[in-house]
Amino acid sequence: MQHCLDIASFSYDELVELLDAAYVLKTQPPGYSVPVGETCALIFAEPSTRTRCSFEIAAKRLGFSTLVLDSAASSACKGESLVDTVKNLEAMGVRYFVIRQPNEQWLQELPSQAHADSHLINAGSGMHSHPTQALLDMLTIRQYKKDFASLKVAIMGDIQHSRVARSQCVALHKLGVPEIRLLGPAEWVPESMGEIPVQRFEQLEEGLQDADVVICLRIQRERLRQDQQVDAQAFHQAYGLTPERLKLAKKDAIVLHPGPVNREVELSSEVMDGPQSVILEQVSHGVLLRMAVLRNMSE
Ligand code: CP
Repeated sequence: MQHCLDIASFSYDELVELLDAAYVLKTQPPGYSVPVGETCALIFAEPSTRTRCSFEIAAKRLGFSTLVLDSAASSACKGESLVDTVKNLEAMGVRYFVIRQPNEQWLQELPSQAHADSHLINAGSGMHSHPTQALLDMLTIRQYKKDFASLKVAIMGDIQHSRVARSQCVALHKLGVPEIRLLGPAEWVPESMGEIPVQRFEQLEEGLQDADVVICLRIQRERLRQDQQVDAQAFHQAYGLTPERLKLAKKDAIVLHPGPVNREVELSSEVMDGPQSVILEQVSHGVLLRMAVLRNMSE
């Protein structure tokens, strides 16, 4: 794999190969190291805890040295473009770039301008996509639910502004999930997900019925105008995942959340810390999945 920019560009076989490679890393050390001096740059123009840290840990476990650039402390704040930043790092010998940006235009611009040997990884692009998050979510789902082809997956919350939800829908569809449900206030549930068949629910109680997997999403306040902001308590009452609501899903349903979590808003602490939550396992899988991606690129 040269780049990892969008789930849509993966074939079914490529998706499964990556999930298998990450799964093996659960029990076996990588047994592989990149050549000495190989560097992975993490260029983050938006805040991150999980993605940035797990990529850095993953890269170091594979023998990379790492450079972390956040836009407030790099020359991006003096007006340097992402393309020029990448070209300057390439001139220093860097060939691996993990990039988070508040928009998706760079996904079209950068690949044709980067060095032929460079590898670009999308670590979150505006509201558009977050492929490695969706992949680690699939790894987590597969651990508990062996057959994607029989699953009902409910994604709930602020879906409209969520790059994670978009990438999850593409991945779930590619892996054969027959029933993808989008739950939330009408203005935050997109009319469609492109070509992917989805069901929309404004009533959580309907959408949660018999679900195998429930994915909660936070309100993306940073993408809302002042007049679109909502009261956290009112949102929790109408659309938060509580133990009572979770009972509507299957008994063995699992609860995911890509993080960061706002407790008592999109879900209650009781659910987050409860027996059906696999949220911290998702975080652990983030390291494994990102190791699998970097390894695939470097072999
Ligand atoms: N899920 C996710 O992207 O989390 P961070 O913003 O903390 O990286």
